[in-house]
Amino acid sequence: MNRSDTLAPPIPSALTERIQSLALSSPPAPPVCAAEHARLTAAIKAELTRQNAVLVVHYYVDQALQALADETGGRVSDSLDMAAFGAAHPAQTLVVCGVRFMGETAKMLSPEKRVLMPTLQAECSLDLSCPADEFSAFCDAHPERTVVVYANTSAAVKARADWVVTSSNALPIVRHLMAEGKKILWAPDRHLGRYIQEQTGADMLLWQGDCVVHNEFAAEDLLALKRQHPDAAVLVHPESPRAVVALADVVGSTSQLIAAAQRLPNRELIVATDNGIFYKMQQAAPDKVLIEAPTAEASRCISCAHCPWMAMNGLANLLHALQQPEGHEIFIPEPTRVAAVRSVERMLAFSRAQGLVTSKTAR
Ligand code: 13P
Ligand code: SF4
Repeated sequence: MNRSDTLAPPIPSALTERIQSLALSSPPAPPVCAAEHARLTAAIKAELTRQNAVLVVHYYVDQALQALADETGGRVSDSLDMAAFGAAHPAQTLVVCGVRFMGETAKMLSPEKRVLMPTLQAECSLDLSCPADEFSAFCDAHPERTVVVYANTSAAVKARADWVVTSSNALPIVRHLMAEGKKILWAPDRHLGRYIQEQTGADMLLWQGDCVVHNEFAAEDLLALKRQHPDAAVLVHPESPRAVVALADVVGSTSQLIAAAQRLPNRELIVATDNGIFYKMQQAAPDKVLIEAPTAEASRCISCAHCPWMAMNGLANLLHALQQPEGHEIFIPEPTRVAAVRSVERMLAFSRAQGLVTSKTAR
């Protein structure tokens, strides 16, 4: 197949500019002093107990929130495990600290629970790059293909999908579909899609979105850093560009990279993913030296290795979500939820059968 036959049309420049401008203008949660930190964490703990609520936090979120999840019986994890944990947990309220698609996935799987987020303005450039109407028209134009979408998409896009995947399970799911003779329409991350295509040889038509964090890792500078640290292993998230993935010793989801940091014998590790992961990675591998992979120069980078939307989650807006939930709660129209949850449940059932998640669904 000609390479151009494997690509969807480019993302329109007006949409790319809008995504970049949103990324640059999204305000990070303000830092808090030690006294305020103590006051906020005590108040959040009291509210979690009073409301029978649990924290479900992504690795890229501020370490104060990760620590709080650990202290209160919540979970810090990747997007697949966050979904499985929220669905299996008996709490009445799930407080999801991450970006909006993570809250939406939690709500899809647990419509009877209240799902709150510190901010509903926490976007994802992949989600934004894939508007539901355009995507649906693209699917209509390729009815012979099985539609596989990354979890980093809206509920409306998931409603159009046959399968949802995350970076933890995309490879085995695509291999499974290949074994059934399926051709795939993939969205939205072009780098992850290309990586899966190259690993599996699957026939995949790729949407052209990318992540504002991983797209900025710079292969030439990474090569120079590798030369300075010849014994270091390089860990790369597959949302990164091909030239960066080509320099990796391990390619994997956030959880898989943390497991690799623990397992590898190398004392030094160069890590190409959002730097929020360093908190848990260092806990998992305390004797290792973790080095940030280089991005585009600081004067030019948009994210500079930290997701601007993950950075919007803080202690103050987390407490606000618990005390005044209006404007913090996830709602999904029921027909969309019912259509979308099928592909998410298919992913979870497959992942449980393969031993990729351990949480059992509550229902
Ligand atoms: P993981 O599922 O690997 O945690 O990735 C989620 C994400 O948004 C990465 O940018
Ligand atoms: Fe989306 Fe990238 Fe942020 Fe992950 S790091 S939430 S893929 S923009």
